[in-house]
Amino acid sequence: MGVGFALLMIVLLILIPYIGVMAGGEYILGVFIPYLAFAVLIAGLVYRIVSWAKSPVPYRIPTTCGQQKTHDWIKSDQVENPTTTLGVWLRMAKEVFLFRSLFRNTTAKITEKGHITYIWEKWLWLAALLFHYSFFIIITRHLRLFTPETPWLVGFLEGLDGFFDFGMYTFYLTDLLILAALTYLLIRRFALPMVRYVSLAADYFPLFLILSIAGSGVLMKYFFRADVAGVKELAMGLISFQPVVPVGIGSMFYIHLFLVCVLLAYFPFSKLMHGPGLFLSPTRNLANNSRIKRHINPWNYPVKVHTYQEYEEEFGKVMKAAGLPLDDEANATK
Ligand code: HEM
Repeated sequence: MGVGFALLMIVLLILIPYIGVMAGGEYILGVFIPYLAFAVLIAGLVYRIVSWAKSPVPYRIPTTCGQQKTHDWIKSDQVENPTTTLGVWLRMAKEVFLFRSLFRNTTAKITEKGHITYIWEKWLWLAALLFHYSFFIIITRHLRLFTPETPWLVGFLEGLDGFFDFGMYTFYLTDLLILAALTYLLIRRFALPMVRYVSLAADYFPLFLILSIAGSGVLMKYFFRADVAGVKELAMGLISFQPVVPVGIGSMFYIHLFLVCVLLAYFPFSKLMHGPGLFLSPTRNLANNSRIKRHINPWNYPVKVHTYQEYEEEFGKVMKAAGLPLDDEANATK
């Protein structure tokens, strides 16, 4: 159900620019929609981040593993269970660059004897890592289209990524990796019954969308060549707010660009916000220093209390008569 709906949406989204180019709508597709998508992205990001930032976090709630800091003679894990801001930064860096919590992923299985066992599951981590790094490198390489001179880093990445040079065109390793990793992530959702059970259209749609973006890019690079000089003119025009739409860039490019615009506009309202969300996640961005520092609930209001001393002063006589011990014998006569 979810898969079918997501797939149908993608097909419809591909048809829009395909028909749009035939109807002469290059300006709308090449200028109006990219600006609109970018505006939605910025507004959506601000909205989501501000609403997260406004959520109160009165307590320290980091999810930790490894030994917590206690006595000096007990060795603690300062990265997995950080008590300092430096430790939090190190753990966050591990999370951002190496996907540390995904690496800790396990699957539960029932053995033949009926016992539950937890097994290391690294394939999801590997596919996610390959996908994200390939995506990052591809986007960085695309900067070539938005800058008059190819920046040094872009040239360097192109050289590294295009190590396997098969003559006519450079073949980029990241093109293969991103498609393979996305295909794995998709097949995993179909093939594992438990994952399939919890998968919704909102899980399939981003995968289909990014697959279609990468797929259309690959088609454009290796099969239906787009006029890259024309694309560069359009891209430079867009970022300098002097848009021009060169003729004859080709429908494949407009499909590619339209799907990218859909991704930009969809991003802030989707599960893809896990990226920015990581930095605002109190289970990740707080030091576990509750044993060292007392964190007072900022919502605490003054509570009228009745201390034991006051209690004894009030009921001392009765307590004495009942044979109960008193802290202050003078209270027996008050
Ligand atoms: C989420 C953003 C994007 C992704 C994931 C993406 C992905 C890809 C991929 C995988 C390729 C295959 C060749 C390569 O790896 O370089 C490609 C090619 C291409 N993309 Fe993108 N792209 C994105 C955004 C854009 C944008 C915004 C533009 C233009 C304004 C663009 C224009 C092109 C062009 C012209 C090619 C063909 C390059 C060539 O033939 O050398 N892409 N894209």
